[in-house]
Amino acid sequence: MRSIKIQKICCIGAGYVGGPTMSVIADKCPDLEVRVVDINKERIDAWNDSDLNNLPIFEPGLDRIISRTRGRNLFFSTEMEKSISDADMIFISVNTPTKTKGLGAGQASDLSWVEASARQVAKYAKGHTIVIEKSTLPVRTAQAIKEILKTTNRENQKNEIAKTFSVLSNPEFLAEGTAINDLEKPDRVLIGGEDSDAVDALVKIYLNWVPGEQIICTNLWSSELSKLAANAFLAQRISSINSISAFCEATGADVQEVAKAIGTDKRIGNQFLSAGPGFGGSCFKKDILNLVYLSGYFGLPEVADYWNQVVVLNTWQQDRIYKIVLEKLFGTVNGKNIAILGFSFKANTNDTRESPAIRISSDLLEEGAILSIYDPKVSFKRIEEDFEKISFNNQGIWKMANSIPEALKNVDAVLILTAWDEFFGLDWNYLASLMRSPAWVFDTRSVVDRKEIENTCINLWKLGEGN
Ligand code: UDX
Ligand code: UDX
Repeated sequence: MRSIKIQKICCIGAGYVGGPTMSVIADKCPDLEVRVVDINKERIDAWNDSDLNNLPIFEPGLDRIISRTRGRNLFFSTEMEKSISDADMIFISVNTPTKTKGLGAGQASDLSWVEASARQVAKYAKGHTIVIEKSTLPVRTAQAIKEILKTTNRENQKNEIAKTFSVLSNPEFLAEGTAINDLEKPDRVLIGGEDSDAVDALVKIYLNWVPGEQIICTNLWSSELSKLAANAFLAQRISSINSISAFCEATGADVQEVAKAIGTDKRIGNQFLSAGPGFGGSCFKKDILNLVYLSGYFGLPEVADYWNQVVVLNTWQQDRIYKIVLEKLFGTVNGKNIAILGFSFKANTNDTRESPAIRISSDLLEEGAILSIYDPKVSFKRIEEDFEKISFNNQGIWKMANSIPEALKNVDAVLILTAWDEFFGLDWNYLASLMRSPAWVFDTRSVVDRKEIENTCINLWKLGEGN
């Protein structure tokens, strides 16, 4: 076996995955030079901002790592050509959204950015380069990357420039909000590839902080599929518990109690059993739709239908919540003031991609509601863009609030959609005095304890709590 010495790493894509992942690699491997490049200059400027509060993504613990690595062995830039040509190892971590048009629209992943990145690597790389898929990709995408690299290589050989490539798959399993912890203490690291020298070079990097027995090496396709399957299984659990939440409301059972009771069975486990307004985030829906598309492509319609139902149930859960709000407020929210607490798709992130709050809020706005939205980390601009991206007939008005009391002033109802820490243990006696009667609290994340509101005039509806 040939030992490949890695000195310089480049990552294309300074997003929620590329940024934190490269920061942790730079932190754990001070001898490596890590360059993160992105076509978005505004984003790169934000990564280089001297005020760490202006980093483009909020992730607990990330600022501390950036403060000790940036400028030492971690660099953010838009210099694609030089960063690629200097690198021994290149991670591709660009976005792979669901296609909006053409074959597979609404299901298949749009690989344009991955392909563009591979072409740039092929063009600028020098010597031997290990190319690593970090983005979640459909199974067998590595083949496409290999083809692009090989074709360009052939062209280069005509010019007598020797270039060689090895392609590996190294999917990321970090969850937003806990990314740093997930990267520093991963359950496992997965590396797929046929070239054992390249695999070995990547394993050596991870061995700087991950125990060897937690590094799993597989073939390329198993690695690619494992990422899709892991996300599909996780999302499936959420749809399963959400289906049970509706059942609980109909029958008088309590979903918290049911989750506890089933979660203590070791075979089931107690994680990912929190009922809520449905899963959001950039990965779950996209990856399942990808799996659905590929199942159809490979002639497995029953498999496609099975996984599609996980997404169907997720959308249904969001619609269900909006309809319950409407029903409890006497069938109309037209002109009524409603506070939305939490707009991000989960706590501890400023990310709103696929957040249930987008659909639920826009449905309420279509009904003419007046929303005051409070989220500790999500900006006005982000919400505005989210509403602009979806087509809906806005009959209402929305504004941002800077605090919980400001959001709740004169509202008829509060809808809690994200479980931010600061929403727990609120002084509901005081907050109730700010609201209009009859005041409703709709809690979709089990944030409010019934005891906290017992001396108030608030009507509390909790997701998954039957009467
Ligand atoms: C993305 C994918 O969504 C996910 O499937 C994958 O697992 C990892 O990459 P994320 O990092 O959350 O996740 O995406 P995003 O925050 O959108 O970052 C991607 C970055 O790539 C953007 O900053 C974009 O400007 C950049 N990019 C895109 C390039 O630098 N070059 C391109 O050609 C395209
Ligand atoms: C997910 C995977 O967890 C991660 O391994 C993968 O790399 C990317 O996709 P992420 O989307 O960042 O990570 O967050 P996650 O914590 O998985 O939550 C996803 C969604 O499910 C959120 O909207 C969350 O609120 C919801 N969720 C999660 C529930 O509704 N109930 C649960 O019990 C857990």
